[in-house]
Amino acid sequence: MERCTLSAPAKINLYLEIIGDRPDGYHELAMIMQSVALCDRLWLQVNGLEQFRLQCNTPGVPGDRSNLALRAAELMAQTYPETHHNLGGLDIYLDKVIPIAAGLAGGSTDAAAVLVGLDLLWRQGLTQPELWDLAAELGSDVPFCISGGTALASGRGEEITPLPSMEGVSVVLAKHHSLAISTPWAYKTFRERFSHTYATGDDAQAQRRQSLHAGPMMSALLNHDKREIGRLLYNDLEKVVLPEFPSVARLRQVMSEGDVLGAMMSGSGPTVFALTETPEQAQSLCDHVKREIPDEDLGLWVTEFCPTGVFVC
Ligand code: C5P
Repeated sequence: MERCTLSAPAKINLYLEIIGDRPDGYHELAMIMQSVALCDRLWLQVNGLEQFRLQCNTPGVPGDRSNLALRAAELMAQTYPETHHNLGGLDIYLDKVIPIAAGLAGGSTDAAAVLVGLDLLWRQGLTQPELWDLAAELGSDVPFCISGGTALASGRGEEITPLPSMEGVSVVLAKHHSLAISTPWAYKTFRERFSHTYATGDDAQAQRRQSLHAGPMMSALLNHDKREIGRLLYNDLEKVVLPEFPSVARLRQVMSEGDVLGAMMSGSGPTVFALTETPEQAQSLCDHVKREIPDEDLGLWVTEFCPTGVFVC
């Protein structure tokens, strides 16, 4: 096999609780992540050369090492130098559909797709835990994007416990095109303002063992209780992002109106998502948002829960 095509789904956070800070500078998290069917598409082609090359159809998406997808290929080459030497590098063509810097793990899911694709093309036969370990070297959200579906993500987000997937939930995503929020800024600001409310250092590890913060949301998911899932949506990072970005706060408010199960910011934002029971309700919500916020800068996407992470097409 010399080429393959992969789909790389975006994610939303149904639950994001910051439990404490960690000695490595990251934060100890309890998150419930959910893949959604808004996907980037990647074509991978063995090129017989040493190097890895990336081309993308979207202006503003870098084709150099600052793109995590290229760093994923380089990580595979460092880890399996003999295979890289024998089979050579790769051309990656990226069709970007997921909005960038949006809190939807767009860059992470592309990197996950490159790991999965190279594993296939290089016939490495890596297990899922082996792929998760490699993915964790690239970023906290990348392991989740490998397996996707619904999962508890703990530690700094890289420790994945898959949960049963739910079907039949529609999702509206909304984001101002021109707005991007830095994830390091969001966590740093949260630490400055709220570190007195949570555990630090070794205490954070201890507290994590004592309680499972995402428990009620996990029960709701296991019971397929959509209303309860909507009621329990939670994101600690809203506490710093919403006061700083009034347009996100307004969007969050408008997205919560009408026939929705619930609405919440995803990750460090600025995307806001809403869950509805039917695609028709999702469409009505879009119409409502367009009426209330008639701004050409606002992007709206209707999608649904997706039961998997990266998949080969
Ligand atoms: O792991 P990743 O590189 O995606 O994280 C981006 C940034 O988000 C980190 O540099 C850090 O500032 C913040 N972060 C954090 N705690 C986490 C995950 C991310 O502070 N658990």
